[in-house]
Amino acid sequence: MDTTKGRIMSIITPDFPYSRPRRNRKDDFSRRLVRETTLSTDDFIYPVFVQEGTGSLQDIPSMPGIVRYSIDTLLPVAEECVKLGIPVLALFPSIENSLKTPDGIEATNPDGLIPRTVRALKKEFPELGILCDVALDPYTSHGQDGILNDEGYVLNDETVRVLCQQALTQAEAGADYVAPSDMMDGRIGAIRHALESNNFIYTRIMAYSAKYASAFYGPFRDAVGSASNLGKSNKMTYQIDPANRYEALREVAADIKEGADLVMVKPGMPYLDILREVKDHFKMPTYAYQVSGEYAMIKAASQNGWLDHDKVMMESLLAFKRAGADGILTYFAIEAAKLLKSQ
Ligand code: PBG
Repeated sequence: MDTTKGRIMSIITPDFPYSRPRRNRKDDFSRRLVRETTLSTDDFIYPVFVQEGTGSLQDIPSMPGIVRYSIDTLLPVAEECVKLGIPVLALFPSIENSLKTPDGIEATNPDGLIPRTVRALKKEFPELGILCDVALDPYTSHGQDGILNDEGYVLNDETVRVLCQQALTQAEAGADYVAPSDMMDGRIGAIRHALESNNFIYTRIMAYSAKYASAFYGPFRDAVGSASNLGKSNKMTYQIDPANRYEALREVAADIKEGADLVMVKPGMPYLDILREVKDHFKMPTYAYQVSGEYAMIKAASQNGWLDHDKVMMESLLAFKRAGADGILTYFAIEAAKLLKSQ
């Protein structure tokens, strides 16, 4: 039956000039009205490096603008985070070489640098969230994230046992989040079990779930002093191959099942496809880590006058939100928060 009989119907849509996407882009008010993604200081987690001593503000040459603090110099930074509204500070230690061992046991010392830092921060600024990285690489004499066998292979279950102790030590000191970045199998479940059975039922686990064996971590390894110990060896036997996508989804699924409260994709910018997929697939609180190498690239290009620092910084952070991130671990957190405040 011909239903168009008797009516004037054109099957050719006269798109031009009725559809003009530039109408909404024309004015600032109309651009603001249709904006799909926004950045706020609530989105940031600020990673900082701590070392022993007092009065320390030691430069890290491969990360311009980032320093190693001692506990006393970190306190004003924490205060600034509180004032700017940055919700969480992430702690990474630079451990003295004399304390590094093949088994990284210093990671479990209740009076070690990180537990002391957590206690000092929670005492002064209880409203600031504190996240601790769970991994042995800052503490091992070989720079790997776990315990090695004679062939230099990282042993899974032996490492997980130490990681559970490390996470418990951090929780005891008052850490709000423990964030396993080691990529051992089964560590989220084991850590969750250790926390639950020791009455730390509110300690959140942010799992570095999709953590790739990336060359973008170079400057971080300078910062924590693991680069020279690691030498030419790599972390391919535990971190994910950058070529893989479905494997990342399986890792995230496992971590959620084992009790992760939040999941992470790392590095950030080169892995936005993974971030989008993880968010769409699992609908979990999902975080991106804009890692040290990404930070260094933007800083270096800006210092050369090749990129506009502030614009590129904000665009990169917004891109994480657009790709599905609920928040970003970024060395730009303070700079970006200040910029947001001044706008
Ligand atoms: C430790 C750890 C690393 C980073 C965070 N936690 C380095 C690595 O796995 O070698 C990298 C962070 C960065 O590059 O900013 N396991």
